Amino acid sequence: MDMLLYVISVILASILIIPLVLRTFYPYLWIDVLYCGELLRILATFISRRRRRPLFFVLDRFLEQTAARTHKPFIVCGDETYSYTSTDKRSNKIANALQAHPGYKAGDTVALFMGNQPAFMLTWLALAKLGSPVALLNHNIRTKCLLHCFNCCKATVLIAASELKEAVEDVLPSLLEQGVTVLLMTKHCDTPGVQSFSDEVDEASDAPLPRSLRSHITFKSPAVYIYTSGTTGLPKAAVVNQNRLLTALAVLSSIGVTSSDVIYLNLPLYHTAGFMIGFIGSIETGSTIILKRKFSASQFWDDCRKYNVTVVQYIGEVMRYLCSTPKRENDKDHKVRLAIGNGIRADIWREFLSRFGNIQVREFYASTEGNVAFVNYVGKIGAIGRVHFLQRMLFPYVVIKYDTERDEPVRDANGLCVESPKGETGLMLSKITDLAPFVGYAQNEDQTERKRLRNVLKKGDLYFNSGDLMRIDKDNFIYFQDRVGDTFRWKGENVATTEVSDILTISDCLKEANVYGVQVPGHEGRIGMAAVTVREGVQFDGSQIYNHVVRYLPSYARPRFIRKQNAVEVTGTFKQMKAKLVEESFNPRRIQDCLYILDDNEKSYIPLTAQVYDCIMSGNIKL
Ligand SMILES: *[C@@H]1O[C@H](CO)[C@@H](O)[C@H](O)[C@H]1NC(C)=O
Repeated sequence: MDMLLYVISVILASILIIPLVLRTFYPYLWIDVLYCGELLRILATFISRRRRRPLFFVLDRFLEQTAARTHKPFIVCGDETYSYTSTDKRSNKIANALQAHPGYKAGDTVALFMGNQPAFMLTWLALAKLGSPVALLNHNIRTKCLLHCFNCCKATVLIAASELKEAVEDVLPSLLEQGVTVLLMTKHCDTPGVQSFSDEVDEASDAPLPRSLRSHITFKSPAVYIYTSGTTGLPKAAVVNQNRLLTALAVLSSIGVTSSDVIYLNLPLYHTAGFMIGFIGSIETGSTIILKRKFSASQFWDDCRKYNVTVVQYIGEVMRYLCSTPKRENDKDHKVRLAIGNGIRADIWREFLSRFGNIQVREFYASTEGNVAFVNYVGKIGAIGRVHFLQRMLFPYVVIKYDTERDEPVRDANGLCVESPKGETGLMLSKITDLAPFVGYAQNEDQTERKRLRNVLKKGDLYFNSGDLMRIDKDNFIYFQDRVGDTFRWKGENVATTEVSDILTISDCLKEANVYGVQVPGHEGRIGMAAVTVREGVQFDGSQIYNHVVRYLPSYARPRFIRKQNAVEVTGTFKQMKAKLVEESFNPRRIQDCLYILDDNEKSYIPLTAQVYDCIMSGNIKL
């Protein structure tokens, strides 16, 4: 009897204790297991689609959704609404009009020069129906850069939005010389060499296009070209092939987005986040897209309320702008349940949750051309992802030691890279395999080769170099630390520019700060410099900034020079432009903006004169 009682109590105790033990020592076990199931589901769907004959592409998924959802709204933009069926019909009209156009041959590469508007998506679908690859031009670029981007992908046709007529006219002589067909989305156009296209679309048939037009396409065929705005030089066109586009279908569905969701897309469609995640992701889930021409912090929540938005997309700056709008009574009054994006900082993340309510933030990591992606499916604040054994098995990646001084990976006596121990920052590399290919950039083998790294863990192996420094903590969460190049060394210490800029922007008088290192003759490494803007209605206060900087930053990390600007230059996704600033350095004869130098005797940032500059350059002032 006693024995039985003993056995029963042991069993009972185990039943009670085991979950407790698991929760304490493996707090994420259950979530990891669920995510494992999700990965397997994604993989199974992908493999079964890849096996279908005739071949199955993203367009085919759109056609499936159209058949299933017919009159459900697909794209809503301002007062324009397109159901799945009307999206399909309108894109047929565009495709038929283009096919009838003498300047176009089926399969030709077409460049799309257009801001966020339904026509962007409709034209892309039309071109997919015609079997044409599409170059997604950034609608903010002009002249030389526009021509460069156009030429990168060997397009023969340019389709532009009517409001970009002048930008097109700027480069028209070069385009016409190359025999490019230039179409403007307008009903009437007087400029010789530019043809109006909307009138032709209106008159065209909305009959479906025969599948034979796309019969030449394989999974390796380019589907879209997306331009990545590096910190140096002209943009590069990353080739997104049909296989890659097919994998993009999984992104929204993998974080639980369904057809009953309404997605707020306020990021540019010419970039990966807007196009691949927002637009292509919604094709998979069959959701409704609320398309915003441009991000607006003041309209954001009103839009969410008006359209019953349940999922929003973000980049770090979006979250920061939202948190810096004035507080309102109805901040928590909305139906948003999920936010997906990347680049949110931990402090903003906390503030966002406390202010706007219990929204699941799904921070992810991915790049346009890269072959590695992570998603923080746990919601751990600050992390971009989590090490998962299944992912690591299928898509091997490694964090290696990186020498930020020499700007290259650390190599051992055998010439191989060295894996970073847990908790230490290193460079993220991802093995290039059939399952995780790296396609590279169009017409740019040189830049493509630069992203490849050989002899990493074994002689002859091949990895994709993400260019991102990351850290994996003891609980297996992955943290983004810096872009290679966003760290510089001074007095033998690494300075992380984003950290310094965070500190500067919490000072009383600075609004924005872009931090970088500049070279000084006779000194190793780079010394800190910050391009800043001042808060509205506030004066630049050198001694206040000095006290702030001295209080929060070690001496090697304090920006020695400050350049006061009216606005911090940013790219289309608000990434700060550094290369130009670094190049212009701190020469008061070359720079119009006010320059300041940190002066420890005066305990202030004081104006940097040409004389002081000369003394630094000649070595009479040591820094
Ligand atoms: C939003 O939801 C409310 C209540 O669920 C409904 O009355 C309203 O019509 C919806 N608005 C839109 C634009 O769907």
